[in-house]
Amino acid sequence: MSKFLKALALGTTLAAFPLMASGAAAGDIDAGQKVFKKCTACHAVGDGAKNKVGPQLNDVFGRAAGGLDGYKYSKAMIKAGEDGIVWDDESLSAYLKKPKEFIKGTKMAFAGLRKDADLDNVIAYLATYSSAAATGEDTSSAPAATAPETVVARAAAVTSLRDGGIYGIGRVALPEEIAAWDIDIRPDGLGLPEGSGTVADGEVLYTDNCAVCHGDFGEAVGRWPVLAGGHDTLTEDRPEKTIGSYWPYLSTVYDYVRRAMPFGNARSLSDDDVYAITAYLLYLNDLVDDEDFELSKANFLEVRLPNEDNFIPDDRLDEVHYAEKGEPCMTDCKPGPVEITMRARILDVTPDSGDDDAAAVGAVD
Ligand code: HEC
Ligand code: HEC
Repeated sequence: MSKFLKALALGTTLAAFPLMASGAAAGDIDAGQKVFKKCTACHAVGDGAKNKVGPQLNDVFGRAAGGLDGYKYSKAMIKAGEDGIVWDDESLSAYLKKPKEFIKGTKMAFAGLRKDADLDNVIAYLATYSSAAATGEDTSSAPAATAPETVVARAAAVTSLRDGGIYGIGRVALPEEIAAWDIDIRPDGLGLPEGSGTVADGEVLYTDNCAVCHGDFGEAVGRWPVLAGGHDTLTEDRPEKTIGSYWPYLSTVYDYVRRAMPFGNARSLSDDDVYAITAYLLYLNDLVDDEDFELSKANFLEVRLPNEDNFIPDDRLDEVHYAEKGEPCMTDCKPGPVEITMRARILDVTPDSGDDDAAAVGAVD
C-alpha cells in the first residue's frame, strides 16, 4: 500500500468515527428493546443488572472484549480483548451478526442477528445503557473525547440519541433516574438497601417523627391509622387491621415507611432510620421484645409476621373454569362487518328518575 493510501485509510478510520457514533443514533431504541428480548435469557442491562449466562451489558461500549471483572469468559473472548477488540458500533455489529465467525471459539451460543435493522436497533438500545456510547469515550477508534461526567451531560447525550424519534418528544430515562424511582422492596427481600437499625434508635426516631399522628405506642392519635395491636381480632365484626395483626410481610412496612412517611415529609429518613423504625414497630407489636434487637438487611427475612399464612397466591387462572377457556379471541372474532343493533338513548339505560323523558334528554349515548 502506498503512503498516500495508508494516510487515506487512516484518515477514513478517524473520520468514520462520528459516523459510527451516529450509527447508534440511527437505530430505533424502542425497536431495539424488542430485539433485546432475544438476548435477555442470557444478558441483563439496566439498574442492578447481574451477570447471567452471559455478562451484564451496562457500559458495554468502550469495554474491551472479555473485559468485565467477575465474569468467566471463554479463552477466545479474552484473547479478542488482548488483541485490541473494544466494543463499539462496528465491532458489536460484526459480533452480533455472526458471533462465531467474528470471535472463533466464543461461548455465546447465539446464531446471530440476520437483519441489519435489528443490529442497528439493538445497538442503539444498548447505547442508552452506555455512558461511552454517545461520545465514543474510551473506544479504541475514538479521538480524545471528553467524558460526559455529569448526569446533565449524559442526559443531553441520550437526548441526541432520541432525536428524530417517531414523535421527537422526551428522551430515554437515565439509569440514575430509573434507580431513583425503583425503590420497591419485595417479600423475598429484593430491593432492600444496605443498612441496619436498633429498636432503641427506632424509639427516638419514632417519637420525633411519627408519634404526633400514630401515638407513642402506635395506638394512634384521633383518627390517624393505628400501627400496633389488634391481634386476634381478624375474625371479629370489627377487626383491627394493623401491621402486627394483618400485614403479611415486613417488606411492606419498610417499603411503605421509606416511600410515604412521615406523612407530608416523605423520603426524608435515611435507610438506617427506616430499619430502626421498622424494628421499633416490631417491638410495639410485641413481635420483638429486646430493645437491643437490630434489624438489618442480613436478618430481615428471618422476621415473619403472624398473618402471613392467611395470604395465598391468586390461583384463579389455574381453576378449571379459567384453565379450560384457552386464549381469548382478540381479532376478527365475528364474521362479517360490525352492526350497531341498539343505541343507548333508545335503550334508555339512564337510571330511572321517574321522569323518563327528562332523563333521556340529558342522557349521553
Ligand atoms: C444463549 C445465551 C446468549 C444469548 C441469547 C446472547 N448472548 Fe451474548 N454472550 C453470551 C455469553 C455466554 C457471552 C460470553 C462469551 C464468551 O466469553 O466467549 C456473551 C458475550 C456477549 C458480548 C460481549 C460482552 C463482553 O463483556 O465482552 C456482547 C456484547 C453480547 N454477548 C451481546 C449480546 C446481544 C446483544 C445478544 C442478543 C442479540 C446476545 N448477546 C445474545 C451468551 C448469550
Ligand atoms: C402527619 C401525620 C403522620 C405522621 C407524622 C406520620 N404518619 Fe404514618 N400515616 C399517616 C396517614 C394519614 C396514613 C394513612 C395514609 C393513607 O392511607 O393514604 C398513615 C399510614 C401509615 C402506615 C400504614 C398504616 C396502615 O395500617 O395502613 C404506616 C406503617 C405508617 N403510617 C408509619 C409511619 C411512620 C413510621 C411514621 C414516622 C416516620 C409516620 N407514619 C408518620 C399520617 C402520619
